[in-house]
Amino acid sequence: MQKEALIIDDLHHKYDNQKISNWILNSINLKIDSGELLGLLGPSGCGKTTLLRLIAGFEYPSKGRIILNDREISNKSKILNPEKRKIGMVFQDYALFPHLTVLENAMFGLKDKKNKSRVDFLINIVGLENFINRYPHELSGGQKQRLAIARALAPGTDFILLDEPFCSLDMHVKLKLRSELPNILESCNASGLMVTHDPEEAMSICNKVAVMNEGKIHQIDSPTKLLENPKTIFVSSFILGNNILKLKKDENFYSCCIGEINNSSLEGEINIKFISISPKFIFIDRCNDGKALIISKEFMFEHFIYKLSIKGETLRVRTKLNKSFNIGDKCALSIAKDSFFFVYPGAKKIFI
Ligand SMILES: Nc1ncnc2c1ncn2[C@@H]1O[C@H](COP(=O)(O)OP(=O)(O)OP(=O)(O)O)[C@@H](O)[C@H]1O
Ligand SMILES: [Mg+2]
Repeated sequence: MQKEALIIDDLHHKYDNQKISNWILNSINLKIDSGELLGLLGPSGCGKTTLLRLIAGFEYPSKGRIILNDREISNKSKILNPEKRKIGMVFQDYALFPHLTVLENAMFGLKDKKNKSRVDFLINIVGLENFINRYPHELSGGQKQRLAIARALAPGTDFILLDEPFCSLDMHVKLKLRSELPNILESCNASGLMVTHDPEEAMSICNKVAVMNEGKIHQIDSPTKLLENPKTIFVSSFILGNNILKLKKDENFYSCCIGEINNSSLEGEINIKFISISPKFIFIDRCNDGKALIISKEFMFEHFIYKLSIKGETLRVRTKLNKSFNIGDKCALSIAKDSFFFVYPGAKKIFI
């Protein structure tokens, strides 16, 4: 059986100056297996950095506990000092020491400076072996972040926290470095938690992703399971980018702003309130007496994304490039054939 590197058990947190009702972290439970890189994904302000600060030991939890490698390192009354946790940290802004060279930065956390074989190994792994005498200002953004990763892992660390590590990098450097990260961790037998607000980033390199909003974890699953079975409306909209539309029941059928939804799978459903549908599954047609109005248009290389308003709701529709409309056009909408949607509560997947 796989050993757990980190266990977070019913963790709650609020900052001192805030009311008890205002939990920044609300009953967080998660486990990271040894050797695993868990993605923590959520919008700005949802509590991601706060969770990292608690794991690093910079804050006391209000309730709950954190266990690292079978040792309880945080609870309400006692926390192990950050420097004793053997947790490496990598920040968005690199946080390197400007007056130290690459080698000196990487060796910074080492207690026994003579023992530099791991530093040499890591500098090679991150590809900085020809830059060891340079200073941070003489490195590119990608090289700085490589150094920050090497420095975090150098003192024998086997658990690493990464807070939006690729956020300041340009697209090409970001894609390269992020695809290398799992291999770097694997070569050091390290586990980690990587925070991001970008679904694509988390899903592309993490085998498991925790989706968080307003201090709560909504779902922890593999990227494919998140896409196939988004358990909450938030996961559905944040991860899949789906439209969430109100459902109304009239007599025997349901309808939403697009129109009636006749589907035998909905028979017997009495409590569903929302439909979650992908922008690519909505069919759009120009029509003078159409009820939908195009309010914006974005060119996305392989398709257009239109924002439309219809019956007081706003939704997004994706079309091929050969289907071009203009802002202000009136349109009729329908659900495309051979598509599917989810209904909530319940997260049932309905095929058309
Ligand atoms: N020291 C603090 N005192 C009081 N409130 C704080 C403090 N630090 C953060 N907060 C609040 O806690 C909430 C969560 O902040 P946090 O920094 O954890 O969010 P985040 O998910 O990391 O956001 P982002 O993606 O923008 O970095 C926010 O509402 C923030 O205003
Ligand atoms: Mg943050």
